[in-house]
Amino acid sequence: MWSFPLFPEQASTVAGKVDSVYFVLVAITAFFTLVVYGMVFFFAVKYRRGTNVDRSNPPASSHKLEMLWIGLPLTISLAVFAWSTGTYFSIYRAPAGAMEVTVVGKQWMWKLQSPNGTREINELHVPVGRAVKLIMTSQDVIHSFYVPAFRIKQDVLPGRYTSVWFEATKTGTYHLFCTEYCGTQHSGMIGKIIVMEPTEYQAWLSGSSADEAPAAAGKRLITQMGCVTCHSAGSGQRGPKFEGLFGTVAALNGGGTAPVDEDYVRESIINPRAKIVQGYEPIMPTYTGQITEEGILQIIAYLKSIGASAGAAAATGTGTAPAPLDTATATTTGTNAAQGNR
Ligand code: CUA
Repeated sequence: MWSFPLFPEQASTVAGKVDSVYFVLVAITAFFTLVVYGMVFFFAVKYRRGTNVDRSNPPASSHKLEMLWIGLPLTISLAVFAWSTGTYFSIYRAPAGAMEVTVVGKQWMWKLQSPNGTREINELHVPVGRAVKLIMTSQDVIHSFYVPAFRIKQDVLPGRYTSVWFEATKTGTYHLFCTEYCGTQHSGMIGKIIVMEPTEYQAWLSGSSADEAPAAAGKRLITQMGCVTCHSAGSGQRGPKFEGLFGTVAALNGGGTAPVDEDYVRESIINPRAKIVQGYEPIMPTYTGQITEEGILQIIAYLKSIGASAGAAAATGTGTAPAPLDTATATTTGTNAAQGNR
């Protein structure tokens, strides 16, 4: 049968919540539109010229009426604010143990990588009923990641990380759009999210050629780039140790603190002197131009795997966390490491 859907289907856990807020807003708007226009029409007819109605003593003010038109909109808007804020938080705060997928936007494609290392372009395969957190950045201009069926949309910005999460509730293939004008091919920057049954997903994973897992690649990178020379305990230590670092709060030189999160790690690689940890010298050079956005994401994945909450992550089965870095092997394998990430 011919059908004309007004809305994309609801295929994620938050889709219903987002739609409820939307429909209630439409209903409130429609209700007051009808009230206002109904009253305009009613009074226009009632008091039209020539009708015989009482026009004496028009009321100059009414406190009851004023209370009503102040109190009612205030109550409604605060209620909508509280409700939609709750919905907003449920969309942007990923549950613990979500599967972390990294997304790099560029003119004009989406590059995605799953935790086991599988890379995809303009396509993402995910299992149904599993929370998926997207950690996103851009290597050029502003893009925006939009999946209408999941009711999620988040800008993807160069130079920092943004994130959004979803849990698909139905198998199927769903549109992915870039929804921020990013140049001539913006309209072509589209893709699909393929939601599969968990068993099918496992089969798909084993059939696809997985690259090195991001955490393992990150470990290789920090060895290869020599980061471990200064960031390991021992006589050569000149910067904070990597083990147990991610997820903590760093005390900075000159006072102040900074949470050790994705943005902090990225900044510390690109612009190391922006935040100097207490007790260390500003001696680290910048790695701008020597490492790709994917490389930085892999280092972050590795630091997470050995970070403050590494035990918790391992317990939920999210990580393919390699063992903590061993300095002895690190220094010997540094020269022949592959260059796959350049
Ligand atoms: Cu990328 Cu529009």
